[in-house]
Amino acid sequence: MGGSARRAHAHAPATLSNLGCGFDVLGLALEAPGDEVVASIASGRGVVAVGVTGEEAGVPGDPTRNSAALAAQAVIDRSGLDAGVEILLRKGIPFASGLGGSAASAVAGALATDELLGSRLDGGALLECALQGELSGSGSEAADNVAASLTGGLVLALPGRPPVVVRLPAPAGLAVAVARPHLEVETRVARELLGAEITLAAGVRQWGNTAGLVAGLFREEWELIARCLRDEVAEPVRAGLVPGFREAKAAALRAGSLGAGLSGSGPAVFALCRGRNAAECAADAMQKAFGEHSGLGCDAFVSAADAPGARIVPESTGALAGDDARTPPRASQL
Ligand code: HSE
Repeated sequence: MGGSARRAHAHAPATLSNLGCGFDVLGLALEAPGDEVVASIASGRGVVAVGVTGEEAGVPGDPTRNSAALAAQAVIDRSGLDAGVEILLRKGIPFASGLGGSAASAVAGALATDELLGSRLDGGALLECALQGELSGSGSEAADNVAASLTGGLVLALPGRPPVVVRLPAPAGLAVAVARPHLEVETRVARELLGAEITLAAGVRQWGNTAGLVAGLFREEWELIARCLRDEVAEPVRAGLVPGFREAKAAALRAGSLGAGLSGSGPAVFALCRGRNAAECAADAMQKAFGEHSGLGCDAFVSAADAPGARIVPESTGALAGDDARTPPRASQL
């Protein structure tokens, strides 16, 4: 344990996943909200205690079920140290909101514990540790949320172990509008609804759109991006889980967004937009539509599409990390 700190503090951002056509393989980090973990040395072995504050409703405090704690335990196991660690998880991301909350907790848990123990795992190992936490939180082995939260920006997370993560370019000005109706949809439940098979015709449309979206991002072709932001697989099945979703999506499209859909399993809805002003309009339109058609309260906000990923927060300030922050892993390092 020589040279290790007594406490370490990490922040990990919320994320969108799927982005319409990219079920389980596309993710995007948001500027806010995010989850934070403060990890401290404690007596005992492994993760000995977990505290949860903030948006804690629904988040398990049991170390064997908490995604931050499970990711922290995975880091301890990989480091080979005989360490005891206590986790304080500050939830900024509401439970079951479709914004990658369990993934952000897991990423922050892995990063804070790695910093605490001085184990300096590489990006790929941190990703694997965070995925162990995410699996317990969402029931999904997909790396879409975890990879985007760890590296920031827009990512393609190819399935497999270890997952291959490719950072995608965000054309200048690409912005995101998000509306989060006050409702919980558990990813585990929303995944069970999907079943195990799709038709060949739906598959052809979906992989055509995924390839087209990636090409559109590289070529900065707004029309191609807009044409391909469609989900033929999950959204038709899940749309009914979120009252007001169809109206909110239609409102975002009328407001001029490139395309819109459920973020992950919802209930959050995203719209990709050309420019921050356009994203503000889409966010307002979706918020109003949820109010009118579902009666649900709804938060709405915007983000750049190239937001930063997870980082260590200097303990001396308690503020989010600045220039002296540890550089997060780039997708090419995963
Ligand atoms: N992409 C997943 C889903 C969520 O839509 O079920 C997190 O991996």
